[in-house]
Amino acid sequence: MKKIIDFLVSDVKWLNENTYLLDLYSEEKLPEILPGNFAEIRIEKASEVLLRRPFSIHDVDYEKNIISFFIKVAGKGTSQLAKYEKGEKLNVIFPLGNFFSLPKEKDILIIGGGSGIAPLKLMGKFFKENGVKPVFLIGGRTENDIFLVDELNNYGEVFITTEDGSLGEKGLVTQHPVFNSDNFKYKKIYTCGPEPMMKAIAKFASKNDIDCEVSLENTMACGIGACLCCVVETKEGNKCVCTEGPVFNIKDLKWQI
Ligand SMILES: Cc1cc2nc3c(=O)[nH]c(=O)nc-3n(C[C@H](O)[C@H](O)[C@H](O)COP(=O)(O)OP(=O)(O)OC[C@H]3O[C@@H](n4cnc5c(N)ncnc54)[C@H](O)[C@@H]3O)c2cc1C
Ligand code: FES
Repeated sequence: MKKIIDFLVSDVKWLNENTYLLDLYSEEKLPEILPGNFAEIRIEKASEVLLRRPFSIHDVDYEKNIISFFIKVAGKGTSQLAKYEKGEKLNVIFPLGNFFSLPKEKDILIIGGGSGIAPLKLMGKFFKENGVKPVFLIGGRTENDIFLVDELNNYGEVFITTEDGSLGEKGLVTQHPVFNSDNFKYKKIYTCGPEPMMKAIAKFASKNDIDCEVSLENTMACGIGACLCCVVETKEGNKCVCTEGPVFNIKDLKWQI
């Protein structure tokens, strides 16, 4: 059930010079949050940022009433958000959007890149609770962009690619040896990250007839299906990513891949 809550900042932890974890505490009991759900945060400190900003929910601690976000600085909103101090208030609408489906298949590959690794921890937790042990593949430009390896290791094996080869296999995620189509063993792929990465994965999945879900990060304004600025073309017409996504099965999208 969707809620609007004034959270209190409980921690802001920088992971590198442009990436941080934001933990928010609520006095109210948190509703159920599923992997892929996102929140719209109002950033009052950035007076020129009028619209709320959307972020995937990275983790939830129902006992402590804390939700966490994994955030990369992209502009004014995300840089001001990092300046909130412990105890300051942030107004949040959540949980929004749909979520990644629980797989029926056994061999699962979850791929994340950039800020798209944000929902992977919650996916790992949720899948583990439901007896699914996925393999994760995370990609970045350099080792400085690779995060959450230890956390994700709690839920499944983690493979890494970096474009400069500073950590894991050298190259893009789709150049990792798991993508060798002669012995590709995964029956379902989930992915979240930059659109070119997701399109390359979708192309491989379509060609090899593998079920694939993607989480889109289209620019959003209202977040409630009113402004139509986040639409994506699907086989059933245009759909709002904020209300009918962000997760879509690639077989429903009209993507040029
Ligand atoms: C469903 C969803 C989940 C997301 N999850 C995460 C996450 O977990 N972690 C994370 O770091 N980022 C996430 N993003 C992206 C994040 O919302 C943008 O980086 C953020 O809104 C940029 O705000 P800004 O004021 O810092 O940047 P701006 O100065 O406004 O713009 C900088 C860049 O961010 C893009 N952008 C601006 N506003 C939005 C917006 N409202 N929606 C989407 N993109 C925007 C612009 O196209 C521009 O390229 C998500 C986006 C969506 C749609
Ligand atoms: S953000 Fe306004 S319709 Fe999706």
